[in-house]
Amino acid sequence: MKGTPGEVTILAIESSCDETAAAVCKNGHILSNKIANQEVHKKFGGVVPELASRAHLQNIVPVVDLALKEANCNLHEIDAIAFTQSPGLIGSLLVGGQFAKSLSLALHKPLIAVHHMQAHVLANLIGEPKPEFPFLCLTVSGGHTQIVYCETATKMQVIGETIDDAAGEAFDKSAKLLGLPYPGGPLIDKYAKQGDPKRFQFPEPQMPGLDFSFSGLKTAILYFIQNAGESLVYKQENIKSEEVQQKFIKENLNDICASIQQRIVSILMNKLIKASRTTGIKQVCIAGGVSANSGLRKSFEEVGKEQGWKTFIPAFEYCTDNAAMIAIAGYYKFLDQDFSELTVVSSARAEW
Ligand code: KG4
Ligand code: ZN
Repeated sequence: MKGTPGEVTILAIESSCDETAAAVCKNGHILSNKIANQEVHKKFGGVVPELASRAHLQNIVPVVDLALKEANCNLHEIDAIAFTQSPGLIGSLLVGGQFAKSLSLALHKPLIAVHHMQAHVLANLIGEPKPEFPFLCLTVSGGHTQIVYCETATKMQVIGETIDDAAGEAFDKSAKLLGLPYPGGPLIDKYAKQGDPKRFQFPEPQMPGLDFSFSGLKTAILYFIQNAGESLVYKQENIKSEEVQQKFIKENLNDICASIQQRIVSILMNKLIKASRTTGIKQVCIAGGVSANSGLRKSFEEVGKEQGWKTFIPAFEYCTDNAAMIAIAGYYKFLDQDFSELTVVSSARAEW
């Protein structure tokens, strides 16, 4: 069951949401990283699970083929097949999971089940320099916001997380309120670049410990838009006509986006500072789709300098969903000989 001594080549498949992705890594180095994005969801303002599963079925064979070709690798050179087992949309996970199992069975190669959120953390181990263990990672994606204490590549613990919306949802839901298409996070980032982040003040929730909450911010933004920014106390008291609201958004879009982004980023950074102080750890990473946000990246570097951290951010293509991170997670599990049975079950929700 083992790969060639000293040489470990992993084929990885990621299909947890609306990206069908495949990657090959050899001895922890990424040889290829391919993604098919699903355009079909754009007109629905969010991911439609049924359509995502169907698109995965269409995309998976060509994407795996491309990843193998770019890596100059054939299926028989693969030592193991890693796949995202959880968490995610169950129909999407099942497509990647069944495909990986079929390959494992046909090639007589071990199967490695990977936790998507742990893989986001481990994206920081792709490339150089790498963080030293133990490190902290703020993982911010469309479905999760977590601070993870990472003791080794295969031993980690969530020490803080959101009790309601994820940071990515806070971006996407705010964008939706501004009439921007899904996913709105990158658009808020784009408009924020030209805006004044101090122009509008949104509340920072008072959450104890290392947990986050973003639902209050979403409500504040809703009232703020309904009031066309007129009241500083964003309450449902002064609702303006749709026309006035739209005009207000249009004329102030850059400043609104910059102010929303600034608040989301400050909520994240304040908790990360607290986590570092509590644990005494100064090797600090960020990961997940929202770590592609330019405001967060900039603030993370500035805070890192102030706090004396050594900071790490994955390359842009490894921040949003990708299979390279699944391959890296699979590689470390391979080194631990941590393989799964063919009976392993995909799961929408995941335990750590
Ligand atoms: O990690 P990811 O690709 O998928 C999940 O596992 O959820 O994260 C997707 C999230 C979406 O909410 C998207 O709006 C957000 O990441 N995102 C951004 C940016 N790029 C992606 N949010 C803010 N600024 C960005 N530049
Ligand atoms: Zn993700």
